[in-house]
Amino acid sequence: MPKYRNSLNVDPDDRDPRISRRSFLALMGVGACLVGVGQMFGASMLGYLYPNAMKVPPSTFSLGRPEEITAKDGKIFDPKQKVFIETKAGKVRVQTAVCTHLGCTINPVETGYSCPCHGSTYNNRGQVTGGPAPKDLVFFDIYKGASGDLLVNKAKTTLDWEKAWYSA
Ligand code: FES
Repeated sequence: MPKYRNSLNVDPDDRDPRISRRSFLALMGVGACLVGVGQMFGASMLGYLYPNAMKVPPSTFSLGRPEEITAKDGKIFDPKQKVFIETKAGKVRVQTAVCTHLGCTINPVETGYSCPCHGSTYNNRGQVTGGPAPKDLVFFDIYKGASGDLLVNKAKTTLDWEKAWYSA
């Protein structure tokens, strides 16, 4: 049972201006709680100041200079964008590397692509040949930006593997 009936357990008649260790620690605890509540409130308010659009990643990315991209033929994997970039005879096309089942990254195999997660398989065109994947792999729209770089718009897709080529 506390000796005095106030929250800091301080004698109200005590004229000693020094603060006891117990009172000091109690004040520090209250102060820390107030700072914590203030930070939580401030952080949540800051979330309202930034528009949602700033949190959405851009759907467009750059492939680089056309002459550099089409310099040699082949297919490479871009792990950051999770796409396969295929070049052939001055043309380029970009296909998703994201499995249409639950979004795992697919691997190229001799017959096309294979998903390591649940075993979906796709042929070289990206059409489903087995497993639980519900849809084919899409190709992304490619266009030349104002800077001259080739840009890929992941928001615009096609399943037509011939029309997916962009002639640089
Ligand atoms: S995520 Fe690819 S088969 Fe399930």
